[in-house]
Amino acid sequence: MSIQVIKCKDYEEMSRTAAAIVAEIVKQRPDAVLGLATGSTPVGTYRELIRMYEAGELSFSRVTTVNLDEYYPISPDNDQSYRYFMNHNLFDHVDLDKAHTYVPDGNAADPEEACRRYEETLAAVGQADVQLLGIGQNGHIGFNEPADSLAVETHVTGLTESTIRANARFFASEAEVPTRALTMGIGSILRAKKILILANGAAKREAVAAMLAGGLTTACPASFLNLHPDVTLICDGAALGE
Ligand code: F6R
Repeated sequence: MSIQVIKCKDYEEMSRTAAAIVAEIVKQRPDAVLGLATGSTPVGTYRELIRMYEAGELSFSRVTTVNLDEYYPISPDNDQSYRYFMNHNLFDHVDLDKAHTYVPDGNAADPEEACRRYEETLAAVGQADVQLLGIGQNGHIGFNEPADSLAVETHVTGLTESTIRANARFFASEAEVPTRALTMGIGSILRAKKILILANGAAKREAVAAMLAGGLTTACPASFLNLHPDVTLICDGAALGE
């Protein structure tokens, strides 16, 4: 039941490999539920899925998507919101019905209530056929940061200083980075039928090693993927420490 590893020669091959697995799932099940992530890592995968759509190889018309997380507070029109990211990097370029794309509501008046509603949405759309994940340098998945304990369901979380600093590069200034986020919990993530976790570059080496060590530790939230029977790490050699 250990995490399977597919080693790719570079970012392009990693992206094509992940996209091919997602595409196969959508071909088998045109009304599939796809769990999606933002960040730099999956951008190439989305690009490849768009290429397949444009080539007439794939349709997303009956697909539903659920995203891992969103900043709070943030407007969906803000170009740093994860809703904007998904529209820009995937949704606007394929035949997905936007009404069937879900991202936690970064604009909600009550964030706790938004998390409860998101869990209801996840229950209503049903188990994701596949969940795409990136991994933080500190082993986070979604916005589940290393901590004494990890939350099971979608919840409001404060961003760590290091995450705020890391994400400041996308904002006009550090002061503009939202200090909170809404994120699926570890349990919400583990509910997917299949999990693909992508990692490239040496910066991810320690986090990947901690995950592949096989034990469970809240110091590396990704280590909890070891509880799931169908997880594949798609990565380059650098992320494996080569
Ligand atoms: C994104 C997310 C994050 C990222 C992680 C890696 O929705 O939940 O956990 O997957 O921070 O980010 P990148 O891919 O930018 O290195």
